[in-house]
Amino acid sequence: MIVAMDARFELRIADDPAALADIAAREIVEVARAAVAARGRFTVALAGGSTPRATYRRLAQPPLAAQMPWDRTLVFFGDERGVTPDHEQSNYGMAHAALLAHVPIPPHHVFRIAGESADPDAVAAGYARTLAEALGVRRGEVPRLDLILLGVGIDGHTASLFPGSPVLKETFRTVAAVHAAAASVPQRFTLTYPVLNAAACLIYIVSGAEKAKVVKAALADRNSGLPAAMVQPSDGRLLWILDRAAAASLPPRRAS
Ligand code: 6PG
Repeated sequence: MIVAMDARFELRIADDPAALADIAAREIVEVARAAVAARGRFTVALAGGSTPRATYRRLAQPPLAAQMPWDRTLVFFGDERGVTPDHEQSNYGMAHAALLAHVPIPPHHVFRIAGESADPDAVAAGYARTLAEALGVRRGEVPRLDLILLGVGIDGHTASLFPGSPVLKETFRTVAAVHAAAASVPQRFTLTYPVLNAAACLIYIVSGAEKAKVVKAALADRNSGLPAAMVQPSDGRLLWILDRAAAASLPPRRAS
């Protein structure tokens, strides 16, 4: 594993996708246990897409599953598609099948985005209320999650924050409904930058050669305009965990 530090982020490069999932799962356990030790609970927003599935499966297996404080964990979602929870494109569905169905987390500790509902703006406003109430923050206050997991698309999108989307400029709403014409499921719901950048810890989990170009661009220049590059916690950790294929275009770094 290669480890490198930059003023803005930490970087871990795993040998392959299996090692990536293992490193990411172990990091989640560490952040979870530290959060419970410090604040009595662990609040996390899960990433969607396909890459985190292996990490979720790893987290559901021994010994890591038993090391997680599931009874003190609250699970949210960084984004969701406009589909039912049993749909193959559902981020909740993926996380449930790979992780949540296999671990002793109380069902009322899992806060799904109702992507299937007819009124997208009502869904977003409803989830913003859910987030605020579950985290005990007052109206207008930005909820601070202990951990937000993220991925990146080859176009540089992260969560459902897509290049050129007006939601990139959102400064007040914590959750937004998004119409992403280019996406397989255009109707999306996403946490916005105020919430992402207020988190105590953000972890990118990125795999595959097709991501190498966008990873280089996102890490090289925070002003690149790429949505993933604009994730910069104001008072938190930012960790990118990549496999070698996704890191292939990065400048050579010291190995540890
Ligand atoms: C989503 C995700 C999205 C994802 C990237 C990468 O709902 O699609 O939240 O931001 O992280 O699209 O997806 P893959 O892991 O499938 O490459």
